[in-house]
Amino acid sequence: MSDRDLISEIEDTTRDGVARITAARTLDELRSVEIEVLGKKARLTTVKKALGALGPDQRRVAGQTLNEARRALEAALADRRSELDALARAERLEQERLDLTESRDPARRGHHHLVTQTRDRLEDVFVGMGFTVAEGPEVETDFYNFEALNIPAAHPARGMWDTLYVDLGEPETVLLRTHTSPVQIRVMQAASPPIAVVAPGRVYRRDTADASHLPVFHQIEGLVVDREVTFGDLAGTLEAFTTAYFGGAIHSRLRPSYFPFTEPSAEYDINCIICEGQGCRTCGQTGWLELGGCGMVHPNVFRAVDLDPEEWTGFAFGFGIDRLALMRHGVDDIRELMINDVRFLEQF
Ligand code: PHE
Repeated sequence: MSDRDLISEIEDTTRDGVARITAARTLDELRSVEIEVLGKKARLTTVKKALGALGPDQRRVAGQTLNEARRALEAALADRRSELDALARAERLEQERLDLTESRDPARRGHHHLVTQTRDRLEDVFVGMGFTVAEGPEVETDFYNFEALNIPAAHPARGMWDTLYVDLGEPETVLLRTHTSPVQIRVMQAASPPIAVVAPGRVYRRDTADASHLPVFHQIEGLVVDREVTFGDLAGTLEAFTTAYFGGAIHSRLRPSYFPFTEPSAEYDINCIICEGQGCRTCGQTGWLELGGCGMVHPNVFRAVDLDPEEWTGFAFGFGIDRLALMRHGVDDIRELMINDVRFLEQF
């Protein structure tokens, strides 16, 4: 081959190499092009080996051309690499981008409130355990909210619930229900055992809102009635619910307590879901969180709905949905649930 031919071969190879470098569309592609144009098996590398066969002058000219070719290819590679780098970074940024603007774009879809989501999830778990879902009115009578639940007029236990009365009929006969327990009575009046229901809903108490209280909040009530239901069934049901809802790391315990409509009565606690029982701020270093009350249905409650307490047994439980939602997400102020700040609501 003449040195003319050699030089034009080098130039052609270089032009072709630069074209392929510019055409590379990803960094991976560029890496294999680099091996093809500058690697051991590249055309320019073979040409270089052929230089040895040339005379000294020819070798100098050809060697120079070869060096320029290498430099041109290396420069083209560096340029293309920084372009592709920038592209890749831009793409990644676009993918990881979070839109933190408060948009009023009407095309954007809304979603259920955190409390509604929590209620739905609770219902799902209980339905999976064989419960059905019941509801009752928020405006109740004294009979359902108190009387039938073994809390007669002037019973000191009425002080457990700061009641809001409705200006209807005789004074203090119509009220905003202070708990979901009146649904127990309505369910037992409407259906005969065996019964296994949960009743989620809104309840009202004469309370001033602060970080842990709202005058309007939500509870979910549970009621099981059958023959030979035991306290062990209650404990087992609550433990099964606890692991189904919170996962296997969280367990429950029952502490003796008092409610007029259950005997014996207990407080239902779970391992703190923030620290998993180690002790932290949320659980006041105790490792436990109080979820609500429970117990065996009191014989007087069965009598109020004409069920024979010698034949029927049952358990009931009731706990706060709002607090559960807060604990699950580590929110420290229950008022967030009412303020309706879009920046809060959109996180769930
Ligand atoms: N109704 C009770 C409350 O609101 C909770 C409870 C429900 C306790 C069922 C026992 C059985 O405080």
